[in-house]
Amino acid sequence: MHTQLNNITIGYSDQGTGLPILFLHAFPLNRTMWATQVNALSSQFRIVTIDLRGHGESDAPLWRYTLEQSADDVRALLDYLAIRQALFVGLSMGGYILFAFYRKYTARVKGLILADTKAQADTEEGKNGRFQLAQIAYKKGPSAIADVMIPKLLSPVTIQTRRNLVQEVQAMIESNQISGIAGDLMAMADRPDSVPLLSRITHPTQIIVGELDQATPPTDARLMADHIPHASLAVIPQAAHLSNLEQPEAFNQIVSAFALNLEK
Ligand code: MLT
Repeated sequence: MHTQLNNITIGYSDQGTGLPILFLHAFPLNRTMWATQVNALSSQFRIVTIDLRGHGESDAPLWRYTLEQSADDVRALLDYLAIRQALFVGLSMGGYILFAFYRKYTARVKGLILADTKAQADTEEGKNGRFQLAQIAYKKGPSAIADVMIPKLLSPVTIQTRRNLVQEVQAMIESNQISGIAGDLMAMADRPDSVPLLSRITHPTQIIVGELDQATPPTDARLMADHIPHASLAVIPQAAHLSNLEQPEAFNQIVSAFALNLEK
């Protein structure tokens, strides 16, 4: 499904009834990375997924991208769907956007799940890395981005043994437009340090991390768990950065238990 929000087309899906749970995807993927979660959880909850601007069925405007703008798009989608409050699940870049959303629209949040993400801003080295990646996208196209990103997103065992999953991730990355890839990279490079925000997060929070995540390792997850007052941490074995795709049953079980508790 798609609609016009904030002057662009935004793709989304909305399935099930009950507590709304809104999923925010990683870079450089799209909302279909949540297909297993939609299938497993929409019998119990209202599951909403969004293609963040620059991805999937949403427009990838040739213009400035910020994480605050993505947070505004999420808020516009909530308004469009008449959802007052939701549980938000943000994985990696989705988590960065969730911090931006929490800063601006705290009243719309019922709870947070921060998966394979981190609160710290980019280091100078990290920002340079983003520029290099944008250059690769510009010179060689999205398939070269897939070659760089897949070893960072999935564990070595998954890459060796689960060809279908690797191909799905590759297809998601290759479907991106350069404008969306470069826009996200600039937005992430510009994001503020969210560590000072952590102690002010008063909502129930679940943190999830794959034990093999190298992009946002368990030490980053522990930092969030240590600073957010009502947070618990779950480490998923045999998963790297895309823990929802590598170990969907474990991921879904954590989301479902947290959401049921929130409904009480
Ligand atoms: C992601 O998975 O969204 C990215 O790895 C986040 C990042 O590059 O910081």
